[in-house]
Amino acid sequence: MSGTPIGSDRYGDAPTTVLPRVPGAPRLDDKPHTMEVRNVHKTFGTFKVLQGLDLQFADDAITTVLGPSGTGKSVLIKHLVGLLEPDEGEVRVFDQDLWSLSEAERANIRKRMGVLFQDGALFGSMNIFDNTAFPLRKHTDKSEDEIYDIVLARCTEVGLERSLKKFPNEVSGGMRKRAGFARAMVLNPDIVFFDEPDSGLDPVRTSLLNDLILQMHAEHGGTYLLVTHDIRTARKVSDYVGLIWKGKVVHYGEAEEAFHSPDPFVRQFLAGDSAGPLGMD
Ligand SMILES: Nc1ncnc2c1ncn2[C@@H]1O[C@H](COP(=O)(O)OP(=O)(O)O)[C@@H](O)[C@H]1O
Ligand SMILES: [Mg+2]
Repeated sequence: MSGTPIGSDRYGDAPTTVLPRVPGAPRLDDKPHTMEVRNVHKTFGTFKVLQGLDLQFADDAITTVLGPSGTGKSVLIKHLVGLLEPDEGEVRVFDQDLWSLSEAERANIRKRMGVLFQDGALFGSMNIFDNTAFPLRKHTDKSEDEIYDIVLARCTEVGLERSLKKFPNEVSGGMRKRAGFARAMVLNPDIVFFDEPDSGLDPVRTSLLNDLILQMHAEHGGTYLLVTHDIRTARKVSDYVGLIWKGKVVHYGEAEEAFHSPDPFVRQFLAGDSAGPLGMD
């Protein structure tokens, strides 16, 4: 690794303006990572959502990107799964620039990714079994017997083995998320994304889902990226934490380090305090 991690120059001295400082020139490793974004810009209309985002996701670890609502967390995931093209910069997955590939090549890369969308994104007309089996039926030529075994294994891991015949509107929000999680795992993904897994769940269900994320990662490995504005979730699951603010990464590092950071900006962000160096507009 060359230089110091992104954001480390933020330690030591107090900020002098209300605007958070951002790391200067990006310091990226030369070593390929499973997944990284380099200087990604994205504007919708006149709203600059991502303004030069640099992140190298740690391989085989759980990284959480924290940011307030509307900071572009879902937009970041959409770039990484190849659903949105950056205006500028590069999205690299498995050491390839996603947007130098053909649509078919991008689709192949996407098959190695699992996504747990914010609302679970289940098909309302399919029961939990068929929802979970969907990627296997669509992307593989496995027999129904093989599909049954895989679906049962994944659904058992998330505690839904007795709810396979239930439809999404017949189960709780927590169960829908777990079904979405099981579905995200059926193709043995190398990368798994979680878009606000805690949204709409009470603290107990959030905690259970977080446990499940940790168990699944321990069992299957992989590079996980979770985005949330919930600090408790970040504390519980993260190996690495990135903070995004106004379209840029303002801190990235080991979770332990972030949660013990003396930096007033990081502390304010993680404490969710209104008072501090962070301006609210
Ligand atoms: N396809 C789109 N077209 C226009 N604006 C969008 C689009 N996707 C996201 N945005 C805007 O970008 C901003 C960031 O969105 P999002 O990534 O969903 O935030 P969050 O951090 O809450 O996930 C929001 O202001 C949103 O309205
Ligand atoms: Mg979002």
